[in-house]
Amino acid sequence: MSKEIGRREFLKAAVAGAAGIAAASALGGSAFAEEPARFEGKPKFAGIGSVRMVTDDIVYVGVSDRRIQLFENVYPIPRGVAYNSYVILDEKTVLVDTVDRSVTGQFFENLTAVLDGRDLDYLVVNHMEPDHSSAISEVLVRYPNAKVVCTKAAALILNQFFACDISDRGIFVGEGDTLNVGKHTLTFVMAPMVHWPEVMMSYDDVSGALFSADAFGSFGALNGNLFADEVDFEKDWLPDARRYYCNIVGKYGSQVQDVLAKAGGVDIRMLCPTHGPVWRENLGWILEKYSLWSSYTPEEQAVMVVYGSVYGGTESAANAVAAMISQKGIADVAVYDVSKTHVSELIGEAFRCSHIVLASITYNMGIFTPMKKFLLDLEAHNLQNRCFAFVENGSWSPVSGKLMKEIIDRLSGCSVIGPVVTILSSPDSGDSEALSELADAVVYSLQNGVEKPEEAEAAAAQWVCKICGYVYDGDELPADFKCPICGAGTDQFELK
Ligand code: FEO
Repeated sequence: MSKEIGRREFLKAAVAGAAGIAAASALGGSAFAEEPARFEGKPKFAGIGSVRMVTDDIVYVGVSDRRIQLFENVYPIPRGVAYNSYVILDEKTVLVDTVDRSVTGQFFENLTAVLDGRDLDYLVVNHMEPDHSSAISEVLVRYPNAKVVCTKAAALILNQFFACDISDRGIFVGEGDTLNVGKHTLTFVMAPMVHWPEVMMSYDDVSGALFSADAFGSFGALNGNLFADEVDFEKDWLPDARRYYCNIVGKYGSQVQDVLAKAGGVDIRMLCPTHGPVWRENLGWILEKYSLWSSYTPEEQAVMVVYGSVYGGTESAANAVAAMISQKGIADVAVYDVSKTHVSELIGEAFRCSHIVLASITYNMGIFTPMKKFLLDLEAHNLQNRCFAFVENGSWSPVSGKLMKEIIDRLSGCSVIGPVVTILSSPDSGDSEALSELADAVVYSLQNGVEKPEEAEAAAAQWVCKICGYVYDGDELPADFKCPICGAGTDQFELK
């Protein structure tokens, strides 16, 4: 029979299919429930599958999404993202995690091709977040004999999200429980709050693979290459891996540390995350990154300068201080406009850099809105152990430095270098000297690991007019001083 199909025959077939689904729905049944029989042993969608062998009996059946714009409707991902899923082909068949509902077409094509007519015996759910679980309901309909292996918390959340009750087909596991499927035995490792409460990881004794849920994942679609050793990970993937970790999991450093401690006692030879490349070589490199990120230890001795500027004065000061720091011998300096750089990139950089210079205008008597959002996001992600320096700007009442410092003071293990440099509208030669002293202090701290002593002592007092916010620099107000803005006397001034 010819493989060609005419347009008329195609349309007839399509209409008949649609009518069948509509009729089934009208009868109160589910057309979808018929699919396992209709598609038994065959792909639902035409195609050849798109899979990679992880080992000789573990197959990657995940799918990359290059259409998505915002991960979790928050994070821009111009490189897309991969939803990783794995099949273990043993005496029993095991599917480890599923994919987002947006890519189920390719996913079921892959799964059906890999099972090649075999039934699915187990679905292991390491993580219930819908980017990995929204295909579960369909898996359970297609493979009605499959048992679901997960934590009790996962079953609860699965039911909450998808009205999918697995009480009659769930195998609920806890720390150290095992599942033998033939040659392979999976051991389950609980990982609560990495980064959801129901998370667990599954360790395979044959391959040494740790199916690690979101841990060790990354933004970025896979491009045929599956393994981290098939790409230049440090150059092409590390920024997105860091941005993924810090923004998605970063708040839960201590829980990640707990899992890393458990991993230390296990012979892990592969890391199989739910996003991004699989690790089979040089695992110590990515484990070290996770150790640094999760302990909030700066990844590099480096400076990030973040500015929020409206008319360019603060931007000019930020550029000047970055140039001064570089001139003093620090090569790793990066400057970011807080209004133009997505906050998730700033969070990633803050986890990388040891020193952060914040320069903000005063806006509505507060911090410039995008800068405030960044600082509150730093706090939400639990950033710790950094050195901060501040530049504030204001045309009549600069207060953003004090307010930025108040937020930073709430972060654990963070220190402030030098006094706040205050600019009035645009930096002048006096500001240049103050910025140079600030750059000196930052470089000293970078090179010596402690604050420059004289900088700590050099903080000049500032007096603030309670009427209009004007700031007077100096230890003492002259007795006859009058506010140049509103004319208030010294009794209306207070120390900042
Ligand atoms: Fe990739 Fe927490 O989901």
